[in-house]
Amino acid sequence: MTIQKRLFLTSAALAVLTLASPVMAQSDTFKIGLILPMTGPQATTGRQIEAAAKLYMAQNGDTVAGKKIQLIVKDDTSTPDVTKRLAQDLVVNEKVNVLAGFGITPSALAVAPIATQSKTPQVVMAAATSSITQASPYIVRTSFTLPQASVALADWAPKNGIKKVVTLVSDYGPGIDAEKFFKERLTFNGGQVTEALRVPLRNPDFAPFLQKVRDLKPDALFVFVPSGAGTAVMKQFLERGMDKAGIKLIGTGDVTDDDLLNDMGDGALGVVTSHHYSAAHPSAANKKFVEAFKKANNNLRPNFMAVGGYDGMRVIYEALKASKGQGGGDGLLAAMKGQIFESPRGPMFIDAQTRDVVQDIYLRKVERKDGQLYNVEFDVIKDVKDPGKAR
Ligand code: DHB
Repeated sequence: MTIQKRLFLTSAALAVLTLASPVMAQSDTFKIGLILPMTGPQATTGRQIEAAAKLYMAQNGDTVAGKKIQLIVKDDTSTPDVTKRLAQDLVVNEKVNVLAGFGITPSALAVAPIATQSKTPQVVMAAATSSITQASPYIVRTSFTLPQASVALADWAPKNGIKKVVTLVSDYGPGIDAEKFFKERLTFNGGQVTEALRVPLRNPDFAPFLQKVRDLKPDALFVFVPSGAGTAVMKQFLERGMDKAGIKLIGTGDVTDDDLLNDMGDGALGVVTSHHYSAAHPSAANKKFVEAFKKANNNLRPNFMAVGGYDGMRVIYEALKASKGQGGGDGLLAAMKGQIFESPRGPMFIDAQTRDVVQDIYLRKVERKDGQLYNVEFDVIKDVKDPGKAR
């Protein structure tokens, strides 16, 4: 056999091998690595987002731009080191096209350098500290920011007899954002934060803090706790008779989370919060979303985490469609920027400059509707950009 012929045969064999190799098969698959807290204190966040992502896929099919969508769900137990290790493994070994999920701020931040280095879009569906999107140019957010939600309430409060406020927040990124932006705006509006209290994120005991608030007797207590922790605050607030002592409970909508609200009892009635999503949002798109979500999940009511996951999947699907599966991470990212659409929450868009979500923020009051407790929207501030980005 001549050398030329041997070379030809070798390369022909190689070509066949390449065709049959898993690398080739993989390019027909589009992998989304969904890292969520499926166990531990933020497990409700994981459950809601996973359910919403699966609903989106069931409704929109699992083939986009000729590629089969594969969702790989990983449990990070809300431990940032675990989140990072899982992200590394998903990028290096699974060769995921997109990283998504991220239940808490420290987990989202732990993955940012991996997104940057590997040029993998990181779609943050839950975590809500303002600065997250600045941690990597590959981060796009479909949840909300605490400054976005807090400022609206600080505009509402002084117009409604609430001048003196004590703030009580979980002592980490989103809580510190909530405390800062609520206080600044309330002070600007002529109100006053008389005391700013911070509770640990892990195993918080609200009792001594609430006792202090009772003694200080402000017009209202402003609260931020992450999704899943609202019931404990509400219970202890009522047990101490704070409402009877004339102290109102207000906060961002995380405290009257739709996931928990219905089990909080009548003590929650009248609580005013500001947020981007309520399961009671009266639009046709939301009614359809809530019904389909409940039907697929044993009557579970979707909360704001679910809507962040559902819209995150939409952003990924549409980016894949628009880039026709070409251009890798950069092509996808470019197609995520500037997306504008109607979410179950209302209109939203992904600001191309900041890669953060711009959306309506609603003022809501807990009311009983059809026998169930809901956050009923009574006012709206349109197209709110994250106030944390202006500085
Ligand atoms: C974060 C987590 C939450 O559960 C929430 O409701 C808001 C913010 C966070 O860690 O960023």
